[in-house]
Amino acid sequence: MNYVPRRIEPVLRRAARDFPAVILTGPRRSGKTTVLKRVFPRASYVLLEDPDVLSRVKADPRGFLEGLKLPVVLDEIQNAPDLLGYIRTLVDASPRGMGKWLLTGSQESPLIRGVSESLAGRAAVLQLWPLSVEESPKVAPLRGGFPEVLARPRSARTWFSSYIQTFLERDVRSVAAIRDLGAFRRFLGLVATRHGQIVNRTDLAAPLGVSVPTITSWLDILELTGQVLLLPPYFENFGKRLVKSPKLYLADPGLACFLLGIESERQLDASPFLGPIFEGHVASEIVKSQLNQGKRRELYHFRDQKGLEVDFVVPGGEGRITLVEAKATRTVSPDLARSLVALGAAAGGTLPPAAFVVHRGAAAGVPSAALRPGVRSVPLPGLLAALR
Ligand SMILES: Nc1ncnc2c1ncn2[C@@H]1O[C@H](COP(=O)(O)OP(=O)(O)OP(=O)(O)O)[C@@H](O)[C@H]1O
Ligand SMILES: [Mg+2]
Repeated sequence: MNYVPRRIEPVLRRAARDFPAVILTGPRRSGKTTVLKRVFPRASYVLLEDPDVLSRVKADPRGFLEGLKLPVVLDEIQNAPDLLGYIRTLVDASPRGMGKWLLTGSQESPLIRGVSESLAGRAAVLQLWPLSVEESPKVAPLRGGFPEVLARPRSARTWFSSYIQTFLERDVRSVAAIRDLGAFRRFLGLVATRHGQIVNRTDLAAPLGVSVPTITSWLDILELTGQVLLLPPYFENFGKRLVKSPKLYLADPGLACFLLGIESERQLDASPFLGPIFEGHVASEIVKSQLNQGKRRELYHFRDQKGLEVDFVVPGGEGRITLVEAKATRTVSPDLARSLVALGAAAGGTLPPAAFVVHRGAAAGVPSAALRPGVRSVPLPGLLAALR
């Protein structure tokens, strides 16, 4: 596949003008190394993975850093965490040198959090997810957004299976001392069957014969490595008794389809998982759009104890919020707007919330239509544009 321009490119450029260091994290194979090399073609490059390089770093971190030609891309910084403190010293010695340190880490691991602490105020921390619908028309629920899957869709199955294998052996092992990788792999399959549901840890623990705290730590690993998206409940302004657990999605809908054994559009259309898969696709795309603008991720779900439910709540500026229902249908009826209207009426903000039903209809069709007063139906690109 030819290089697909990434939306995060201008954000990276701006960050490198404003900060001495830029840190790009995100799930494996999302395109971090590729985009950094593309945006900073003149930077030198060191992959912190090679045992030779790593032993040199360990033996003499200061000497190693002082020998580098700046700016430099230090790829996979999680393998050499001790460097961060030294980088900080160098940054503080010449605080006006912007964009000198370009770092990647494949996990939002405690270590990467350590980066933001030791380089607080000195580094811009950005996240790159796989390709989005705004970057490639090939991105869709069945295949998801990993560039290598989209380049060779017919090898998707092989790709995902080796992706999981590598992920288990490298990331999972390095984040936690998990002895039974087989059980973790079964956990991943089970998580796929809960795609789009409120997290119920007891219900995940029982079939695997592990404890609830184990499930909590395993979910943490999936979140830290960018494999799942946990949406917290939206608490403000509605004056209702809420369900307090987060909602769970696999971050890449292609991976979800793979784990569920869905291999074609036809199977997806007939699958009981079609609704949740589409919903998860919408969730991921909203998050990608926020991250690609350099914003914080802000996406919530809403469910009260009486069963009133809205898929997504997206806070916007000026006290405004947007409510979103995702429906895997190509034809929308006003009926689909019912919970949006009910929740919209309960909202206590200064402005009435904006409300959308996002559907699978072709983007080329009617761009947006009023379903009920205050509720519009839109295809996904229309929603993303409205949220910007
Ligand atoms: N913008 C892009 N357009 C086309 N292909 C891309 C793009 N970005 C990445 N790829 C391809 O996707 C694959 C993964 O990219 P890359 O190695 O940059 O990801 P990464 O996030 O650095 O992965 P890792 O976490 O394993 O280091 C590569 O084969 C690369 O060629
Ligand atoms: Mg890389």
